[in-house]
Formats: sequence, structure tokens, C-alpha cells
Amino acid sequence: MRRIFALGVLCLLISACSSKKNRVIADMIIPQPSEVNVKSGFFNNDSPKISFNGVMPEDKENLCEIIEGIYPDAEIIEDEGVKGDINITLEAFANTTEGSYSLNISRNSIEIAARQPAGLLYAVETVAQLKYLGDGKGIACMDINDIPRFGYRGMHLDVSRHFFDAEFIKKQLDVLAFYKMNRFHWHLTDGAGWRIEIKKYPELTEEAAWRPYKNWKEFWFGGRRYCKQSDEGANGGYYTQEEIKDVVAYAQKRGITIIPEIEMPGHSEEVLAVYPELSCSGRPYVNVDLCPGNEKTFEFLENVLSEVIELFPSEYIHIGGDEADKGSWKTCPKCQAKMRSEGLKNVDELQSYLIRRIEQFLSSKGRKLIGWDEIMQGGLSPYATVMSWRNEEHGIKAAEMGHDAIMTPGGYCYFDYYQDNPITEPEAIGGYLPLSKVYSFNPVPDSLDTETSYHIRGVQANLWTEYMPTEEQVEYMIYPRILALAEVGWSMPENKSWDRFLKAANRHLLILDEKGINAHRIANGVNIKDSVNVDKKEIVISLSCDRIPSEIRYTTDGTDPEISSLLYKEPITVKDSITLKTAAFVNGERVTQPQIFKTYYHKGIGKKATYNLPFCEHYTAAAEASMTDGYRGGASYADGRWQGFRTGDIDIVIDMGEVTEFSEIEANFMQQPGPWIWFPVYVDISVSDDGKEFRNIKHIDTDVPRDSEGTLIKNFGFSGKEKARYIRYFAHQQPLDGAYMFIDEIIIK
Ligand code: ACM
Ligand code: ZN
Repeated sequence: MRRIFALGVLCLLISACSSKKNRVIADMIIPQPSEVNVKSGFFNNDSPKISFNGVMPEDKENLCEIIEGIYPDAEIIEDEGVKGDINITLEAFANTTEGSYSLNISRNSIEIAARQPAGLLYAVETVAQLKYLGDGKGIACMDINDIPRFGYRGMHLDVSRHFFDAEFIKKQLDVLAFYKMNRFHWHLTDGAGWRIEIKKYPELTEEAAWRPYKNWKEFWFGGRRYCKQSDEGANGGYYTQEEIKDVVAYAQKRGITIIPEIEMPGHSEEVLAVYPELSCSGRPYVNVDLCPGNEKTFEFLENVLSEVIELFPSEYIHIGGDEADKGSWKTCPKCQAKMRSEGLKNVDELQSYLIRRIEQFLSSKGRKLIGWDEIMQGGLSPYATVMSWRNEEHGIKAAEMGHDAIMTPGGYCYFDYYQDNPITEPEAIGGYLPLSKVYSFNPVPDSLDTETSYHIRGVQANLWTEYMPTEEQVEYMIYPRILALAEVGWSMPENKSWDRFLKAANRHLLILDEKGINAHRIANGVNIKDSVNVDKKEIVISLSCDRIPSEIRYTTDGTDPEISSLLYKEPITVKDSITLKTAAFVNGERVTQPQIFKTYYHKGIGKKATYNLPFCEHYTAAAEASMTDGYRGGASYADGRWQGFRTGDIDIVIDMGEVTEFSEIEANFMQQPGPWIWFPVYVDISVSDDGKEFRNIKHIDTDVPRDSEGTLIKNFGFSGKEKARYIRYFAHQQPLDGAYMFIDEIIIK
């Protein structure tokens, strides 16, 4: 009796231990399901029999294709009455959130049920993930009930700035489906190239899909000219209508709807190069916008859209609508005549007129218009859906007006931004969007009422490819950030956890490797957090790394960290100054770039700074305390540590409170020409005892050209023996409208 009891306890213990392992596996599913109950053991059958109930033949075929990828030796049971090892049921009731499913995995069988085909597909994709995560042991036993948070979970790709072929698109669609993404927004036309064959206008792809430059940057800064495919050195490409049909069908099989974008009325230089009569001037390479005063513009757009509609069955057709210049419309006789005849008060209303006519056209074909948030300017078309990119406010406003909105704000969804320290990353357009920030996005703020929230239909990541000339670079920017966005789009906020997700994302890097994806490795550096304690006159530095597992090592003598360097165990306290060089290691190998962090508990900390000229309202850092709070700027100018000055000089006076001896005064500046951030042209440092009469002690001219690449940080400082109460730090910028300077701290040693 006792033996049986003991055996029972042992079995329970083993089972608890095994289900704990399955918990670890369940936590690795991305996006995290709504409800998971783990069990012990694995479904370990590599040639399962698959049965279907109530599934339509076409859906069955699609599911079988995915299942074959998971189980090449699976056997499909054709007889509906016979139950297989994996049993897939389409339930009769259809009134549930599209994409919901239940998945019950036990040692001998897998039961999948959903009320729409999309749910069955997602259940199978979950099995696919569990197969990878099972590390050869099979599918971990668990019961899952899963419901997506949003119906629209999208990824956008700009194929105009650089062209990527259909095979590459299909590869991405496979991976997007693996993460339950269901929309692919294909940005097919823009000023850098027209990428879709239009039978009625073959000149579009003959004359504007090619250019004599490989990289967008050379094209953009080197003349913005197109050429013919047959010209020597022609670069570019386009999709034939046959290729498009093939890609659309491929996506459909994987539960992904492709939304085509045809840009109008702005970002249309390539159209106007081919058909200059559609521009206000009538000449090529002059205007950027289509002329809405010309009826031929509408004829062209409707003809193009008619072919597009034939190719793409999506409910939405994206018509761009962003960043139109509208300048030429103000003086164009045709545009002015149109404004008079239609009673339009300004060029915003003229744009709105164009969008409204296009909406009516799409509507007559049974389609819905979606556009970037500028389509709200001059009045939003009655049934339009707004893609909110400049911030979240436009989407919220549209939702409050009763329109649907898709959230894709730059601050959380622009994957062309740097994802890690710009100094160690390949050149990008600017900005800073690390994985953690994507993950933190909540598309529906808690403050919204139910009705408004309902209209926010989903999220999307945007990938503009100006700085991505290769497929490898595109993948590097998409992955793993899209995993974070997949979870933002699918998982309820209460099921999200950054710590859990980060571990899972690290595990998924290995899966992405297996899929041949060139993913960013989550962290090319160590996170350095400093905390200044004015009472104790010290700075405490803590280190962490988003590479998991990893260990952090550091030096304080300026040398690169090695495996024998100090192991970081607890926060480091700095009373005076430190030059910390740190890196993360995995299995004895350094896996991140050595990173340097210098900080000082300097004489200026806590002293009063007076600004003779204002800092800019968007990059305030710690306002008037910024230069003397001890906090150093990091990799991004938008990290709240760097203070920005726009279209003007910096002129700051620090009062040391009493005459003070010092040997160095210095400040770091950032230069990143993409977003118009430059070093000062020169810096003047002067001192005074009365705060009125200043004596110059140092003049420094910059020696860095303004067309430098990537991100630079440079110190502009004085060294020598001096004594004074007031220190004035003056930095001059070229008086260029919109030019920035960024500075983080004035260090007085
Ligand atoms: C955009 O980024 N111009 C939509
Ligand atoms: Zn015009």
C-alpha cells in the first residue's frame, strides 16, 4: 500500500516537473496565446494521420500544405468519419472573433477546432512553432484557447526605393504567417520606381522601374533620373501581373491578405517622368504631385486602379495620400479652375476632392479606400479608413469620427529606424526603435471609450527601404521586431510580459536562422543605466543585456573587455569618474560590440544653468537641469538625455555659486545628417566672475564635414587651468531652417 502511494507521489512529481518544462515551452510561443494550460509529456508522432471534419476542400488543401512543412510524412485521411492522430474540425457556429481556435495536445492526439478556416490555420501555425520549440521531443502537451486582439495585423514593405523580387516576398509571407500576421501592405509605387505591370500603361515599367543607380541614396542625391531596362547599368525591376497573381494566391493560402498601395497625389515623380502631362507644369522632372485640376489624372488613376483591383481581391485598396507638396497646385491654372468650379477653399480641400472621387470609384467596384493620415486634411472621405503614421492622434481622431483606423505610428512601428546603438548599426534613416519599444506599444489607449476603441482595427509595421539596398538588410530590419509587433497585434495586454517575450524572442532567433532569415541579434550592445545621487555625490551604473542567456564583462582602463575581464554582478558606484568598457559574452565568445561609457561626478552637477536661447520643444531632456544633472546621452538623440536645439545657437551660462577652480570643460554633441543633426560650426567657451563681463578661454571650429555617414559623437572642450564663478558655453549652428544640434551635459572637471 505504502509502495503504491510512494510510486503515486513519484509519478506526480515527475509529471509536475515535466509540465514545468512544458510551461517553459508554452512561454516561448509568439504571439503569446490567450489561455494555455500545460500538461506533461509530448505528442511524439512524426508520421501522424490527419483527419478533417467540416473543412471545405480548398481550406483543407491550404492546411495540408502547411502541415506538410511540419510533418513531411503525414498521412491525410480522406474519409470524414475516421479520426486521425491530428483531428481538425471546423465547428458550425461562425459568430466568434475571426482567427480564434482551440488546440488540445495530448500524448496520443492533437485536436484542433475553430469556427473559421483562419483559426484552423493559426492552430496549425502554433503546432509548427511547438515543433521547433520541442527540440526533437515532439509537441509539448497543453491545451490552448486563443483569440486575437485585433483583426488587422500588418507588415508593410516599400519596394520602390529598392526592388525585391517575388521569391523574396513569398519567403517573408511564410514567416509572417508563422507569427499569425494577416496583412501585407505592398508599397508598389513611389518616386524611386514604379513596380507593377499595368497593361494599359506599359511605359510605367519600361521607363520608371529602372534607374542608373543601384542604391536609392545615389539615385536620390545623384539626379533622380530613370532609365530603360536595356540601358547599361540599369537597376530595378517590377512585378508582372502573373507574378502578382501568384504572390497573392500564395499569401491567401497562408491567411494573409495583400493590400496594394498606389501612391497619389504625392510621391509620384516616377509617373510624372513618364507622363509629364499629368503634372501641373506639363514637364518631366519638375513636379512631385499629380495635377488634380486635370481630368486626365483621374482617367489615368481609374485605369490603373481597375487593373489593380483585378489583381488584388483585398477589400482595401491603399491610395497613399501622404506628404503631397501641393505647392504647384497653388499657381496651376487647371488646379485653380477646378477649385473655383468645385467651390474648394484651399489646396487641402483640392486633395480631399481627389481622394473623394477615388473613393467613389473604388466603392463602385466594391472596394474600400485606405490612406495615410494626411487624407484627413481638407475633409475625410465618408467611408475612408485612416492609417495613422505621424502619431496616434490622427487615428484616434478618425476613430472618434466613426472611421476605422490602423495604427502605425512612427514612434513604435517604423522599422526603418535604428533598432540598436546607431554607432554600431549599419546606416539607417535615423530615429531609434528598439525591440522593447515596439513591444511596449498599446494601440488603444485606456482612455478611449468602447465605441472609439472598436474603430481601431489593428496595427502595422512599416518598412521604408531607402537605406536597405539588399534582402539581407531588409530582413535585418524586420526581424525580430516584427515578433514584438505580432504580439502587440494578437495578445491581450494582460497576457503580455516583456521578460517572457524577450526570452522567447532570443529562442526564436534560432528558428529564424533555420528559416534562413538574417535577423538582428536583439542586442549588439549592453544596456547601461545610470542613476545620479546628488546627496551622496555619486553615480550608480547598472548593466543588462537583452541577449539571453549571456554574461556581461567590463574594464575600467579603456581596454576592450575579454573573457577574463571583470564579471558584472551588481551595480557599480562611481564617486569620481569612470571609463567603463563593457560587452556581453555567450559561451566564452564576445557577442556584442565593446561599448564605452564615460561618466563623471563633476563639479557642475546640481549647479544652476541659465539659457540665453531656448532648447526645442520636442527634445527638452531635463529642461534647464539637463546640462548639469550628470545624465549622459545614449545611442539615440530621442532618449530623453540629449537636449535638442533647432534652427539656432546654444548659449548657456552655468553659475558655480562661487569662484571655482577647474581644468576641463567639455560637452558631447551628436551628428546624424539624415535627420538634419549636425555638430556646431564652432564652440566658444568663456568665463566670468560677475556674470556680465566674459573672457573667452577657448574657440573650437569643427573639423567634421557635414555630409558624414551614420551617427557621430564628438567632444568640444577646453583643458587648462582656470578659475571663475560663471561658465558660458556657446555653440553656433548654420542658420538653416530645421537644422538641429544635440548636446547632453556640460562637464566641469
Ligand atoms: C509615410 O511614412 N510617409 C507614410
Ligand atoms: Zn495642377
